[in-house]
Amino acid sequence: MKSYKCIGFVLLFAVFMLVNICFCADKKGTPENPWIIGMSQCNLGEPWRVQMNADVKINADKYNFLKVIYKDAQNDTLKQRAHIEEFISQGVDLLIVSPKEAAPLTPPISRAYKSGIPVIVLDRRVVGEDYTCFIGADNKKIGESAGKWIAKKLNGKGNVVELKGLMTSTPGQDRNSGFRKGIEGTDIKVVFEADMKWLEPNARKEMESALARFDKIDLVYGHNDPAAHGAYLAAKAAGREKDIIFVGIDGLPQEGQAYVKQGILQACFEYPNGGKEAIETAIKILNGGKVPKEITLESRVFTPENIDKGGEWLKAEK
Ligand code: FRU
Repeated sequence: MKSYKCIGFVLLFAVFMLVNICFCADKKGTPENPWIIGMSQCNLGEPWRVQMNADVKINADKYNFLKVIYKDAQNDTLKQRAHIEEFISQGVDLLIVSPKEAAPLTPPISRAYKSGIPVIVLDRRVVGEDYTCFIGADNKKIGESAGKWIAKKLNGKGNVVELKGLMTSTPGQDRNSGFRKGIEGTDIKVVFEADMKWLEPNARKEMESALARFDKIDLVYGHNDPAAHGAYLAAKAAGREKDIIFVGIDGLPQEGQAYVKQGILQACFEYPNGGKEAIETAIKILNGGKVPKEITLESRVFTPENIDKGGEWLKAEK
């Protein structure tokens, strides 16, 4: 009788252990069974995006219950669409996307979101609201602050070249409309504008055309630091860099901030990449917590006068 009881207990214990093992193996968010995050980056050809991925990685690597799979679309919209579809069929637990352009990337992101995968959209926006959380700085405010800074620097008049970011992406649109608002009511003329698609070689070429057409250019407003730097190189090759003020956006320590220190840029507006915040937000979502629909990151302006003090935070525009 005693031995039957004993066997019963052993059996019960074995069943209990088996259920426990199965349950634990199934439980997500453990070192054995980590959350899988798909990170779709539109390109890694620019330092700013390399930094974004590095910031995602440094922060994700702090947690052994997370695993991030990275895909780089190499600036190809179709490739990025395919990457998002691949992440959906793989059944990732969460998606982080920094989309190349708004409209063409909206359908796959919307599909992921509607299929129950939480989606964090980083930096460039999509159309509509089919995502969990958008993280980025306020590009309209940055553009407007740049406009006001430029108006002050030029005493309200002068000829400006605007080298625009990809105009099918929202930062390009917002840095343009914000800037135009910032110079409203002044005598500043935008004598030349071109879409350099965020790329330094394009900016350099466009600036060569601007230099050939206009004898008097007072300032170049580049929608990113590579654009401002490309324009500077074109002006330097024409021997005109000392007559022109260059302004950029991004403010990486090794790029825009360094250009300010070297006297290449007279102002550089910071554009934080949100990599760290994306991982912090992902963890909250995966743990079942609530997150805001939008997280707005703050920016600073760096000038030769304030760069050694760490720049100055942008104020709210009215
Ligand atoms: C990098 C970049 C940055 C810019 C951002 C806008 O691809 O062009 O220079 O600030 O994208 O989305």
